[in-house]
Amino acid sequence: MALRKVFHEGDEVLRKKSRKVERFDERLAELAGDMIETMHHENGVGLAAPQVGILKRLFVMNIEEEEGDVVVINPEIIAQDGTQKEIEGCLSLPGLYAYVNRPEKLVLKYQNLAGEEKTLEAEGLKAICICHETDHLDGILFCDKAEGELMHLNEDGELVAPNKRLDEEEG
Ligand code: CO
Repeated sequence: MALRKVFHEGDEVLRKKSRKVERFDERLAELAGDMIETMHHENGVGLAAPQVGILKRLFVMNIEEEEGDVVVINPEIIAQDGTQKEIEGCLSLPGLYAYVNRPEKLVLKYQNLAGEEKTLEAEGLKAICICHETDHLDGILFCDKAEGELMHLNEDGELVAPNKRLDEEEG
C-alpha cells in the first residue's frame, strides 16, 4: 500500500464526473487500500477516488469503530428521510468548514471489492459522509451546498467566518 496525493479545490479533477467501476480486479483493490491508508494518514473519515485523481465511482469511509474501513463502489442512494444540518469539512478544502443540509437517514446500495451487491442503512454522521463522498463522484464539493459562509478554526479551536479572522483583527 502507498499514500496517494490528495488534490485540493481548484484542481479540475475534483469537478469531473467519475465513471462506473466495471472491473473488480487487483488494481481496484490496490487503489482502495491506498485510499484507506491515505484517509487515515490525513485524519479523514471518508475519501473519494477523485480526491486522489482517479475518476472512478469509489469511496472509502471509517465512521463506526466496530465496522472499521468500508469500501463503497458504484454507490446509489435509493431512499432518504428527514434533514440534518451539520458542520462539514473536506480533505480537499483543508481548514475550511461549513453547515450543509443532508438527509437524516438514507439507504445506500453499492458494491464491495468483490463486486457483490450490498445495501446499508445509515443515519447521523454516516449518512452525511455517504452524501458528501457520493457528491465527490459527481464533481460536487460541500462548499457548493454550504448554508452560509465558509468558516475556519481560529487559534482557540472556534469556528469563525473569514471576515473575523484573527490575523485580520491583529493586523
Ligand atoms: Co470531501
